[in-house]
Amino acid sequence: MELPEEEMEPEAAYRLVHDELMLDGNARLNLATFATSWMEPQARALMDESLAKNAVDREEYPQTAAMEERCVRMLARLWNAPFPDACVGCSTTGSSEAAMLAGLVLKHRWRERRRSDDLDPGRPNLVMGANVQVCWKKFARYFDVEPRLVPLENGRYHLTQELLDQYCDQNTIGVISVLGSTLDGSYEPVDRICTALDVLQQRTGIDIPVHVDGASGAMVAPFVDPDLDWDFRLHRVVSINASGHKFGLVYPSIGWAVWRDAETVPEELIFQVNYLGGHMPTLGLSFSRPASQVVAQYYSFLRYGHSGLRRIQERCHSIARALAEEIAAIGPYQLLSDGSQLPVVTFHLTPETDGFTVFDVSRTLRERGWQVPAYTLPHNRTDLAVLRVVVRHGFSGELAQLFLDDLRRVTDQLTNQYGSRVILRAAGQKPAPLPSMIGGGKAIAG
Ligand SMILES: Cc1ncc(COP(=O)(O)O)c(C=O)c1O
Repeated sequence: MELPEEEMEPEAAYRLVHDELMLDGNARLNLATFATSWMEPQARALMDESLAKNAVDREEYPQTAAMEERCVRMLARLWNAPFPDACVGCSTTGSSEAAMLAGLVLKHRWRERRRSDDLDPGRPNLVMGANVQVCWKKFARYFDVEPRLVPLENGRYHLTQELLDQYCDQNTIGVISVLGSTLDGSYEPVDRICTALDVLQQRTGIDIPVHVDGASGAMVAPFVDPDLDWDFRLHRVVSINASGHKFGLVYPSIGWAVWRDAETVPEELIFQVNYLGGHMPTLGLSFSRPASQVVAQYYSFLRYGHSGLRRIQERCHSIARALAEEIAAIGPYQLLSDGSQLPVVTFHLTPETDGFTVFDVSRTLRERGWQVPAYTLPHNRTDLAVLRVVVRHGFSGELAQLFLDDLRRVTDQLTNQYGSRVILRAAGQKPAPLPSMIGGGKAIAG
């Protein structure tokens, strides 16, 4: 806990740190995270070449800055902005920073509106489902906005249009709609939420913008569900965020925030700095950031293009759906989500199962190295504890098969040990093989 008095040889320091890190979990077996845990060697080489660059030094590293700009334009087009070259956007450290920026823009716009109408601003509130990721609760607390969380109810595990009327008023700075809930990977109905807000505006005159938290979904839906209406095609959607380090296929940590147009972002949130040479508009919470992640994102977009990203995200989906079917067939598990929206499988124990919990399943899987989180759902459904598996690029059909074997074995073991009454898969019944990642001569994961 203290800085050592003496220096040591680099090799010795390397060994000490390296050996200690062996006790960390294996990132590839971490089925809990949405974050990318595998990239190609070419991407790693580019990241290595850019490690010494600071992304904020735009004047010094103009090509890195140009790559960031191109990524913003690509995302604006992917998310169907009416004028993609007029969008404002930036890279961030992840979706959390993007959420803070998007929330701040909503807050400033609301305050400007209230002031120009000569109305007392009052205390702002932000409406969202109780399923939102913690970054939105942080935004509300850090920036003094009342979080209005629409609770989950039986069978409804994310925000829908129904209760919006009861939660929105003249002090609502915006509604957050999540494309790809962290809890179960489900998509909120952004289009129906927008329509409900249109109706609210017709009735009351209150015009409430929508921000889409597409941390995962904004990099999945455009390729797998291109006809799903959730992005800038909906006029009420003013901004979108995504994590480049999730389904954008880049190692942590990079995120993106894109606003519909320049008018959406208040001037006062853009800072001009001149001490790096030239006049630089900056929008962001932090200043220095690694350039390597921006370079890696540009590589991923260039490398895979539409067809590659479609192929990878579809493959994740087919593995997730096959995994869901097999998990349901084991016996004591019921699916909450089956991987058909985000490639995420969420499941819980059937009410008849006794003697062990999902927390025991999670702990016992860990003995084999698998990291599968078990957690209870938020307010109103805290009675329900689930396990979640995120199928990401690099989680091959072969790895999924090994995971299933272990899950069956762990379930058998817990059932025998604790005498559960559930009936497991009939003896001798063979599980179906999962789709292989190595098909058609194209190996996409190591
Ligand atoms: C829906 C959603 N929003 C925001 C975040 C925060 O993202 P990040 O880890 O990129 O800050 C997550 C992370 O899982 C998420 O699932």
